[in-house]
Amino acid sequence: MPHRRDFLKFLAASPLLTEFSAFAQEVEATIGERLTNPSEVINVFEMEAIAREKIPPAHFGYLATGVDGDITLRANRAGFTRFQIRPRRLVDVSQPDLSVNVLGAEARSPIFLCPVGSHGAFHPEAERGVARAAAAKGHHMILSTQSSTPIEAVVAARGAPIWFQLYPTDRWEYTVAMLQRAEAAGSTAVCLTIDLPAGRNTETSQVLTRQDTRTCSNCHTGQAKPIFEGLNMRGVGLNDPSLTWNVIARMKEVTDMKVLIKGIEVGADAALAVQNGADGIVVSNHGGRAIESDRGTIECLPEIANAVNGRIPIIIDGGFRRGSDVYKALAMGASAVGIGRPYIWGLGAFGQAGVERVLDLLNRELLITMQGSGTPTIDSIGPDYVLDAGYRVPRGRLGRELF
Ligand SMILES: Cc1cc2nc3c(=O)[nH]c(=O)nc-3n(C[C@H](O)[C@H](O)[C@H](O)COP(=O)(O)O)c2cc1C
Repeated sequence: MPHRRDFLKFLAASPLLTEFSAFAQEVEATIGERLTNPSEVINVFEMEAIAREKIPPAHFGYLATGVDGDITLRANRAGFTRFQIRPRRLVDVSQPDLSVNVLGAEARSPIFLCPVGSHGAFHPEAERGVARAAAAKGHHMILSTQSSTPIEAVVAARGAPIWFQLYPTDRWEYTVAMLQRAEAAGSTAVCLTIDLPAGRNTETSQVLTRQDTRTCSNCHTGQAKPIFEGLNMRGVGLNDPSLTWNVIARMKEVTDMKVLIKGIEVGADAALAVQNGADGIVVSNHGGRAIESDRGTIECLPEIANAVNGRIPIIIDGGFRRGSDVYKALAMGASAVGIGRPYIWGLGAFGQAGVERVLDLLNRELLITMQGSGTPTIDSIGPDYVLDAGYRVPRGRLGRELF
């Protein structure tokens, strides 16, 4: 594949590599040529490197991108270095249990699969492969509005209820139609994403699209995503900039699904979500893909957990790449943690088997952290197990910051 090699050479010579490496661990760029079996992959950073070799450059750019200079994206990783674990000793951890139940969603792990649009851009198995992996490993899945696969097929592949992520359109009757279809398909909750009211500036995506020489119109046919079947999407926006907090009550009038608000970053908004009847919140900056120069989500969590005060479950996502990252969020008040890019790296690298490997790796790291810290169950991981050092610990070699 000569164009792939050229692309990797371009990356190696480019400041972009420094950008990627600034929030990942150092992995040799062509590792995928040697690691051909998912079981050989030892962490999610290696999976990213393999995915980068296999996914077309423009699609990898869509996956990797943050906004503007990718500062929020890197803040998500850097934030974890502020918090350190305080392990306790001589606790019986012989019967560890990672299972959770969040708003009725039972899972064998607190690591949830976040909504990510267009899985078909990363592997032909797409959302079906991801759902089968989630079923095999017992993980809860949230499906994007922008899914390449009809929701009914995803629920069938998962074999259990999923949650639906909603981008409200600017036509309320279309929003209602999507909600009703998702509910009929077997979704038990809806996550309303509220952090993109006015578009975004995804520069890294644009830079990598320039490197892609394929003819996009071969695949991008302009067809609407499956959830919009039967709706005329001409001129319909995928976001409604006029939304305010009463949207929760309006949604509850037309659906019995639980309503979660995705994209909360400050305590005052978390309190408003509770006041306005949300059943749960997702602390998220859209994986650094919405606003530039936000805090890392883990740094937002203390004020949000304080504002919520246990009244509704908190899910958090953004930059979770290690079991220890997950552990910290659980200790700081999250009921579950979402991952976005890591499972897509698995999908792009090896299809369903790659997603399963990513979940195995993260679960194993979390299990080791739990047992090593004297906390055999998710409920036993409390605030005493993490300390906010108040500063970020730089990590890396030769003066480069790596996380
Ligand atoms: C390629 C890509 C597509 C995404 N699509 C959606 C989406 O359709 N709806 C949504 O609410 N969030 C979407 N997100 C955000 C994720 O749900 C999640 O908040 C984020 O990826 C978590 O950060 P992480 O990728 O660092 O784990 C997307 C993220 C990525 C990387």
